[in-house]
Amino acid sequence: MALVNDNYLKLKAGYLFPEIGRRVAKFAEENPHAKIIRLGIGDVTEPLPPACTDAMHKAVDEMANRATFRGYGPEQGFDFLRNAIAQQDFVSRKADVSADEIFVSDGSKCDTGNILDIFGAGNVVAVTDPVYPVYVDTNVMAGRTGVADDTGRYERLVYLPVTAENNFTPSLPQEKVDLIYLCYPNNPTGTVATQETLKAFVNYAKANDAILFFDAAYEAYITDPAIPHSIYEIAGARDVAIEFRSFSKTAGFTGTRCAYTVVPKELTARAGDGSKVELHGLWNRRHSTKFNGVSYIIQRGAEAVYSDTGRPQVRALIDFYLENAAILCRGLRDAGLIVHGGVNAPYVWLKTPGGMTSWQFFDHLLSKSHLVGTPGSGFGAAGEGYFRLSAFNSRAHVEEAVCRIQQLLS
Ligand code: MLT
Repeated sequence: MALVNDNYLKLKAGYLFPEIGRRVAKFAEENPHAKIIRLGIGDVTEPLPPACTDAMHKAVDEMANRATFRGYGPEQGFDFLRNAIAQQDFVSRKADVSADEIFVSDGSKCDTGNILDIFGAGNVVAVTDPVYPVYVDTNVMAGRTGVADDTGRYERLVYLPVTAENNFTPSLPQEKVDLIYLCYPNNPTGTVATQETLKAFVNYAKANDAILFFDAAYEAYITDPAIPHSIYEIAGARDVAIEFRSFSKTAGFTGTRCAYTVVPKELTARAGDGSKVELHGLWNRRHSTKFNGVSYIIQRGAEAVYSDTGRPQVRALIDFYLENAAILCRGLRDAGLIVHGGVNAPYVWLKTPGGMTSWQFFDHLLSKSHLVGTPGSGFGAAGEGYFRLSAFNSRAHVEEAVCRIQQLLS
């Protein structure tokens, strides 16, 4: 009989968001008249910027014409997009990244999981706690952990707590680790990492021959000019870091799918025989073997994000969600809640009221106010007693959600 990957049997229940979806679907079935507002999964609601859809329409027309039709594109992405990314996301911020270090893909969720293919099973992995669950679950699937305890913490993973007590700043690992995931602006807490914090992690990585996985999917939401947008703004980061970026939250591409990963040419890790291996070549091998590139139409849409017409449209989209976050923060504070994040990120991280657990508050909010958020404990043990609200929704829904929470807590 065929054997399964036993590591999958160590995974806790379902992936967080489908699990929430199941609970909400059950509630909706039992309460068909409830007007449910969803501030759970961070999924965009506003349409794509017109510059992007115009570019996609034009690309569709090209595909309809024999002279301009295209089949397979380069697996790593078309040069027109890679050049725009290198120039506008990095060189303009004095971060040294060249176009051929950029691998265009269909999502950062996939990339942060897939990157593990090129790393050995014996690596010790550190994650913040709470954390985007994909980092943990993909390491469980790959066999880099033992089993989980009752709080959901897996043996052999190193957890770096980020809570109000440490101002949501992770300490450096006390032990030697090989791979460290950092997500800034942070999902789920909506907090940011300063230049000093990132510098400390780069220095740790250099001293310990570790690699940083820097997920910057939310960098476009940074409003504070002192906060780095890219790990490559930190001196020395090219030697130790891989960065993940996405068009999902920047330009509303969650359904359209486009993202990219940066693997600098100088980045190396060790082979079993002790020799140094360049990760750029390894990732290129993996990417071109298992992936056939993002569609031409979508890459043209992504390119338009960087155009003269696209840039202000994308800015307006981000500002819209940031204003939603500000409305949530103000409204929740007025309701007496302790609130974090929401200034440089589209997520608001609140302390549950009255000592409720995260799931108790989830059920309370759903049953009494017909609002959906995400229980903090779903992101890790240190998220217990916290709750995440996403700013991705219409203005009317966000304002209505604030009113309902204020009524609930009054
Ligand atoms: C979230 O809600 O945390 C996001 O939707 C995650 C993602 O982008 O996959």
